[in-house]
Amino acid sequence: MSQIKVGIINVTGYAGVELARLLYKHPTVKLCSITGRSAAGQKLAEVFPHLADIELTITAELDEVDFVFSAMPHKASAEVILPLVERGIKVVDISADFRLKDASKYLQWYDFAHPAPGLLQKAVYGLPEFHRAEIAKASLVANPGCYPTGALLALAPAIKEGLIYPDIIIDSKSGISGAGRTLSLSTHYAEATDNVHAYSVHGHRHLPEIVQELETLNPGLSPSVTFLPHLVPTSRGILSSCYAKPNEEKPVKGKEELLEIYRSYYKGEPFVRVVDKPPGTKQTWGNNLCLVYPTIDVRTGRIIVISCLDNLVKGAAGQAIQNMNIMFGFSETAGLEALPVYP
Ligand SMILES: NC(=O)c1ccc[n+]([C@@H]2O[C@H](COP(=O)([O-])OP(=O)(O)OC[C@H]3O[C@@H](n4cnc5c(N)ncnc54)[C@H](OP(=O)(O)O)[C@@H]3O)[C@@H](O)[C@H]2O)c1
Repeated sequence: MSQIKVGIINVTGYAGVELARLLYKHPTVKLCSITGRSAAGQKLAEVFPHLADIELTITAELDEVDFVFSAMPHKASAEVILPLVERGIKVVDISADFRLKDASKYLQWYDFAHPAPGLLQKAVYGLPEFHRAEIAKASLVANPGCYPTGALLALAPAIKEGLIYPDIIIDSKSGISGAGRTLSLSTHYAEATDNVHAYSVHGHRHLPEIVQELETLNPGLSPSVTFLPHLVPTSRGILSSCYAKPNEEKPVKGKEELLEIYRSYYKGEPFVRVVDKPPGTKQTWGNNLCLVYPTIDVRTGRIIVISCLDNLVKGAAGQAIQNMNIMFGFSETAGLEALPVYP
């Protein structure tokens, strides 16, 4: 098979440049076109010296390609994607612009009226562990948010099997690259180092996405979710600790049985690994795995599930490539086999 020609819109952001790094070793696609507003006309290596082996020039507009990743900020992403969809080009959108099915939620959570509400039903939410068969047939895939990926993969077996009451707390910690490459005071070194703080306490934009997908998993559930993100002084990684009371009608005998339920649920999944010790973000640094550790608090009976992933890989660029692989019928792990970086 000849190589598929792919393009990245907005290679100058963290998600876009991580896509370029991962695609370099992909066996069946060739990165041919990269755009970036502030760096148009410059060689990729001038802006990102770690990618000196990729001989491409950043342009203002995309060249002709067979497949596009959009790593644009929300709202701007929909604007660039709509003409591509009209031309029949397959797209994975890393922004939030096609993740929510209810168009009114864009006004409520993202402060803009969605320009193509009809397309929201056609776009597929790109969490392969939930929607693999639909992704395979999709022409527009909405790559999940980084926090939702970790939280949903932690909660899915418990929700699907009805093991917990749907009154859930998700406590997440993210490294600073989750906030993007655009400069801001809160991500300034002196503000962020030696500091940990909660933010968006009264409602983070990823909450409606988490609720939507929990409902898809178990229709009629009406989950009540408190999602509390924190910023921690590390460059990559998200650790999410999820808590819920066990469903007395579906009692789990102990943590070994819970672990077995989780192992069996994710059997055969290439990028979800159920682990028997609490994982840390360094175990997924630069790699497409999500590690999931389920257990039971013996004193309160609460079910606790801890997950971790690299926000730029399974939380963004890696998962986008996983989705592209599924859309083209490639091996799902193609280009994503690298082990995590340590220390
Ligand atoms: N960071 C993550 O961990 C992560 C995870 C999952 C999903 N995402 C999503 O991925 C997308 C990119 O995120 P990111 O973190 O890579 O962002 P980022 O590093 O902050 O990139 C933002 C860049 O986008 C460009 N930009 C901003 N507004 C633009 C516009 N109207 N038109 C063209 N370019 C514009 C700017 O680049 P120039 O300076 O070149 O103009 C800006 O530096 C976002 O939608 C984000 O929500 C990010």
